Amino acid sequence: MTTKAMHNPIIVALDVESASEARAMVARIGPQVGFYKVGLELYTAAGMEVVRELLGEGKQVFLDLKMYDIPETVSRAVAQVAKTGVRFLTVHAIGSVMRAAVAARAGSGLQILGVTVLTSFGPEDMDDLGFSGTIAELVERRARKAAELGVDGVVASPLEAAAVRRAVGERMTIVTPGVRSAGVDAGDQKRVATPAQAMIDGANYLVIGRQITRASDPAGAVDRVLMEIAEAFAGR
Ligand code: C5P
Repeated sequence: MTTKAMHNPIIVALDVESASEARAMVARIGPQVGFYKVGLELYTAAGMEVVRELLGEGKQVFLDLKMYDIPETVSRAVAQVAKTGVRFLTVHAIGSVMRAAVAARAGSGLQILGVTVLTSFGPEDMDDLGFSGTIAELVERRARKAAELGVDGVVASPLEAAAVRRAVGERMTIVTPGVRSAGVDAGDQKRVATPAQAMIDGANYLVIGRQITRASDPAGAVDRVLMEIAEAFAGR
């Protein structure tokens, strides 16, 4: 087994509407998971308080706020996040936004992740962006730009992970949502891959929501994913 397969790559998405639901979910999942993603829903409901609570329990936090604003505003907001002990923060992978974020997190433990192209975007959104190429081309171009500007990592769908890894090299962290184990309901997700495949393709972390949070036994669902990854790497 490689070292990469031995670290626990799971980040559970706390897509819930209150701090009390988040607390209950973390308790049900138990000690197997040490890393949680707080996205816009929980953040707008419970703010930095729930983030501080998670950090206070020794959990790592991925704050998924996908910042996109003028450099001064991004810089000041990132500086606030950098003080808290949050580990990952997302910003859109646009040059001026990433530059401001990277400068503002300097000297802290905060790592900036670039969001290249939202996975919900289709060809008509490319028109709105004024980009004439394909989504895959824009993903790669923005991932390369992120690497050039010293961004710490990128968020990539499992189907993009291999191409993004080739584009950015080994130094960057790749965080991959949209994974599903074989046989698990994909819900509204169309372009999914298994957790093990995403890791093989170069992901360092996997963001997993419903497969774990909606399972009758969330802790068991975590064990299952870890087992699948270990088996996939053991056979390599
Ligand atoms: O589908 P699931 O519940 O596992 O999604 C977990 C998280 O991943 C959600 O917070 C969602 O916002 C994010 N996600 C994403 N891109 C996708 C699918 C899900 O960023 N294609």
